[in-house]
Amino acid sequence: MYLKSLSSWLILSLSGIAAGKTCTMPKNSTVGGDDAPGITAAVAACGSNSTILFSGNETYNLLTPLSFRDLSGVKFSFEGNISLSQNITEIQAVVNNTKIYPGHWITVKGSDITFSGSKSQDGGWFLAHGQQWWSAGNQIARPHWFTFSVTGLVIEDLKILKPIAWVFSIKGSDVTMTNTYIDARSDDDGIDLSGNNVLIDGFECHNGDDMVNVSPDATNVTVRNVLATGTHGIAVSCSSGTAGNYLFEDVVVKDSLFGARFKGSLGTTCNLSNVTWRNFEIHNTSYPIHFIENYVDQEKGAAGMNASVAAYANAFSWENITGSASTTLKDGSCITDPCWSYTEGIYSPNAS
Ligand SMILES: *[C@@H]1O[C@H](CO)[C@@H](O)[C@H](O)[C@H]1NC(C)=O
Ligand SMILES: *[C@@H]1O[C@H](CO)[C@@H](O)[C@H](O)[C@H]1NC(C)=O
Ligand SMILES: *[C@@H]1O[C@H](CO)[C@@H](O)[C@H](O)[C@H]1NC(C)=O
Ligand SMILES: *[C@@H]1O[C@H](CO)[C@@H](O)[C@H](O)[C@H]1NC(C)=O
Ligand SMILES: *[C@@H]1O[C@H](CO)[C@@H](O)[C@H](O)[C@H]1NC(C)=O
Ligand SMILES: *[C@@H]1O[C@H](CO)[C@@H](O)[C@H](O)[C@H]1NC(C)=O
Ligand SMILES: *[C@@H]1O[C@H](CO)[C@@H](O)[C@H](O)[C@H]1NC(C)=O
Ligand SMILES: *[C@@H]1O[C@H](CO)[C@@H](O)[C@H](O)[C@H]1NC(C)=O
Ligand SMILES: *[C@@H]1O[C@H](CO)[C@@H](O)[C@H](O)[C@H]1NC(C)=O
Ligand SMILES: *[C@@H]1O[C@H](CO)[C@@H](O)[C@H](O)[C@H]1NC(C)=O
Ligand SMILES: *[C@@H]1O[C@H](CO)[C@@H](O)[C@H](O)[C@H]1NC(C)=O
Ligand SMILES: *[C@@H]1O[C@H](CO)[C@@H](O)[C@H](O)[C@H]1NC(C)=O
Repeated sequence: MYLKSLSSWLILSLSGIAAGKTCTMPKNSTVGGDDAPGITAAVAACGSNSTILFSGNETYNLLTPLSFRDLSGVKFSFEGNISLSQNITEIQAVVNNTKIYPGHWITVKGSDITFSGSKSQDGGWFLAHGQQWWSAGNQIARPHWFTFSVTGLVIEDLKILKPIAWVFSIKGSDVTMTNTYIDARSDDDGIDLSGNNVLIDGFECHNGDDMVNVSPDATNVTVRNVLATGTHGIAVSCSSGTAGNYLFEDVVVKDSLFGARFKGSLGTTCNLSNVTWRNFEIHNTSYPIHFIENYVDQEKGAAGMNASVAAYANAFSWENITGSASTTLKDGSCITDPCWSYTEGIYSPNAS
């Protein structure tokens, strides 16, 4: 016992968090009841410089969202599972209610925060039961998982199973995210990133829409060691702001619509500099490299947009990108003809 707590103190100190105490999150005494109110109270009572433990062999039901807005020096340790409701209507009622749903199911703001998943395959899963949403073709009032706005964020070993919609929105600075796993057999986004000094190392994502989407004001972002299938790209996009210094390297993309992707929008402007995609192995992908400064959403059209305004992009490079394009320019997300991804003036050998 003594050794165990000593070693966890040491580890926490190394990652910058002095572990004052460990608080084990309570389960609702009503079986199947909402665990969120009890967790909210327990985190508040536990205070700064602490470890928030979600016990192994437990499943915590988040029937309502969690929002932590002023944390400092807190490590969340997810040994148990975290589950949303399996009842679609119940989730939609929450998402529709702006008083209790601020845009994500878990909101974290503050400084020096660690989100740590379990090393065990039996626990630490974030379960959203997306399958039933996809089977029902349900695209309405879908919940997003996480938003972080933290100075000094460590995310490690998180495992996300069947998310219903976007998974991570990351703002803030000094962010390190390692060994993340997302299994999303639908058209969902992985990470939406606008933070500073961000390192994402080790990211596996199956069937995510934009698996990583980096946009201003993000600066100094490195993403490496990525495996993606069924993706809409390792993407950079912008519609406002000046930013850059993004590096994406050591990436494998398979069976996807896009690989290395940039998207600026017609009618708005932004200025991105120094973006590199290198050491990509891309297979069976419609657009291994896709670059567009003046994207127009086909459903909305270009009406009313100033056609002389679009993105500025400078010092972009694509190095050592190998592999093969697929023979189709579509994936399951195409519900119109031409597909939303159809690009006027595309280099034709890749488009055949
Ligand atoms: C327990 O669950 C019930 C039903 O979901 C909920 O109304 C109540 O607030 C929960 N209590 C705590 C302490 O989490
Ligand atoms: C938390 O730890 C920091 C750094 O060790 C210290 O400055 C701060 O006073 C601590 N806060 C609390 C509430 O213990
Ligand atoms: C979970 O339960 C199994 C079987 O009951 C047990 O072997 C294991 O130690 C438990 N794990 C934790 C983290 O409590
Ligand atoms: C946690 O979720 C995983 C993935 O669904 C599952 O294999 C595991 O049995 C779950 N653990 C518990 C305690 O329910
Ligand atoms: C789902 O939740 C709604 C609203 O709370 C309820 O009316 C409905 O009976 C629930 N469905 C199931 C299958 O539990
Ligand atoms: C949520 O709002 C949508 C419209 O945005 C509506 O179609 C749906 O029925 C609402 N669901 C619930 C459970 O309130
Ligand atoms: C860029 O971000 C990395 C990773 O977070 C960090 O180690 C490095 O110091 C940052 N560089 C600058 C110039 O801020
Ligand atoms: C370009 O961005 C990379 C990755 O963030 C960084 O290491 C490098 O210093 C930047 N180069 C310039 C000229 O700013
Ligand atoms: C190519 O990728 C598509 C998904 O975009 C997939 O349906 C198809 O089976 C893949 N083809 C091969 C030969 O793997
Ligand atoms: C875009 O930003 C770069 C680097 O900050 C700068 O050199 C360049 O002049 C800017 N271009 C425009 C059109 O603003
Ligand atoms: C090119 O990228 C591959 C990985 O896709 C890597 O194994 C190889 O070493 C890279 N080549 C160079 C010259 O960097
Ligand atoms: C379109 O943008 C250009 C360049 O910023 C500007 O000169 C022009 O006035 C704009 N036109 C309209 C109709 O807003």
